[in-house]
Amino acid sequence: MKPKVYITRQIPEPALSKLREDCEVLMWEREDTPVPRDVLEREIARVNGLLCMLTEAVNQDLLIKAKKLRVISQMAVGYDNIDVEAATRRGIMVANTPDVLTETTADLTFALLLATARRVVESAGFLRRGEWKTWSPMLLTGQDVFGAVIGIIGLGRIGEAVARRAKGFNMKVLYHNRNRKPEAERKYGLIYADLDSLLKQSDFVCILTPYTPETRNLISERELALMKKNSVLINTARGGIVNEAALYNALKNGQIWAAGLDVFQQEPVPLENPLLSLSNVIALPHIGSASINTRVKMAKMAANHLLQGLRGERPAHLVNP
Ligand code: DGY
Repeated sequence: MKPKVYITRQIPEPALSKLREDCEVLMWEREDTPVPRDVLEREIARVNGLLCMLTEAVNQDLLIKAKKLRVISQMAVGYDNIDVEAATRRGIMVANTPDVLTETTADLTFALLLATARRVVESAGFLRRGEWKTWSPMLLTGQDVFGAVIGIIGLGRIGEAVARRAKGFNMKVLYHNRNRKPEAERKYGLIYADLDSLLKQSDFVCILTPYTPETRNLISERELALMKKNSVLINTARGGIVNEAALYNALKNGQIWAAGLDVFQQEPVPLENPLLSLSNVIALPHIGSASINTRVKMAKMAANHLLQGLRGERPAHLVNP
């Protein structure tokens, strides 16, 4: 008998057909809406494998219902939506999709950095509203990126890929990470700094660390107060790492210069979020890994992990301790 799997969103065809060869596939057949909780709670009880997105809270309450579940395969590198400890206690394997999205997410991080520094979105709106009357010396002037200091918080795969891009812009690259990375220091000339020194020295602070209880609200009032007045904060990791109320105040009061955000504490970000009222904020809808090629690769990798786990093998990117 084929194992049963549940997919929480419509995924690209190549990944789907691969799963259909070996499994009985049940799927929430929508691409643009997350699976309703009651549907997921019902389906989880009858399947051996789950392929899920970062939009699903795979917590204790759900796992209690997952009597037959053997493997959870997340289509994302971040897996803070999954209670891995609870899954491990129940003998369920959990896998994620690192590597395939590294360069794409680093591209978006750098795009957001450049756009925020040079006020690209604000300038485009200015032109379209017919406000461009003449060229003038200080019109829509921004911050230089070339030769500036960038501080990367979290030197994992994506952090390192951003550092490589920064080197191409002749930037001085500081990083803060749980462990020092001597090889990356040697290879790319990166400089380790404690968090406070990084915040004090950087013109651009990029958040690329995983979201864990330790990194929740890592950047709050005290940390923002250490940053330079001309500095730009970029967050393409998870919204909860930055305290949004503190960030709003810092931006509003000119304590820092601008922010580029691809992630929010609540997603989709409510339009009433005060950060969206600020012209020095560029806000994007969590599109870090959103290139066609990368999303197809992520779906295929997640499908493979599910198949590996269901065959009793160790998925290539297992995250259980
Ligand atoms: C991830 O993979 O964790 C990103 O946030 C979405 O691609």
